[in-house]
Amino acid sequence: MIDSVPADPLAVTLETDRLLLRPIRREDTPFAVRHFTDPEVYRFMRDDEPITTAEQATAIVAFYVDQPGDTYNRWVLVRKTDGVALGTCGYHRWNRQHRKAEIGYDLSPTWQGQGYMREAVAAMLAHGFTAMHLHRIEAVVAVANARSAHLLRQLGFAHEGVLRESFFSGGQFHDHLLFARLSHAEA
Ligand SMILES: CC(C)(COP(=O)(O)OP(=O)(O)OC[C@H]1O[C@@H](n2cnc3c(N)ncnc32)[C@H](O)[C@@H]1OP(=O)(O)O)[C@@H](O)C(=O)NCCC(=O)NCCS
Repeated sequence: MIDSVPADPLAVTLETDRLLLRPIRREDTPFAVRHFTDPEVYRFMRDDEPITTAEQATAIVAFYVDQPGDTYNRWVLVRKTDGVALGTCGYHRWNRQHRKAEIGYDLSPTWQGQGYMREAVAAMLAHGFTAMHLHRIEAVVAVANARSAHLLRQLGFAHEGVLRESFFSGGQFHDHLLFARLSHAEA
């Protein structure tokens, strides 16, 4: 974490070897339109209908910028060497009483397979367990999304079960896998 006074842990910028994770801002809209409307990005996002228009992608940015909440956020993964935006990630459903939250993440296809998201999620986890005092971090993954499940297992998440027909999109229900990592678990 590079901010000097981290008053709101959802609003700070995180730093890894190769990346900055900085809160999404309105100037990210052109990137967000390219990124979120890419079929490879939403291919396994079965918790909502596909994002296919610039208006829908713009609305995602506007949501985070105009309605910052205390239970969710979105960071943009920015490569330190050239400032290129590679994808996004963030927390949602932060429950302070139970000290748990859920993560989400998406990388543009050009940048997949190079370890960027592993680096970003590892930083998110460290931040969650320290600055956010989380005990449990969850992720929900469509059953066909093998790369995402692989990433979570590498980062110490345990597969806890199948959420049967848990989301409806594209005219059908989709099973999802529930993963969680506890603060005292080995990575
Ligand atoms: C899920 C998703 C983020 C995984 O991205 P990814 O790039 O495959 O994941 P990683 O960042 O962990 O990179 C994996 C591969 O990068 C390579 N890699 C890992 N670290 C590396 C490094 N430091 N340098 C270079 N390459 C590296 C490896 O080949 C690694 O695979 P391996 O661990 O099996 O050897 C990506 O597929 C995605 O965004 N999909 C679309 C959106 C989505 O489905 N989001 C998740 C919803 S639950």
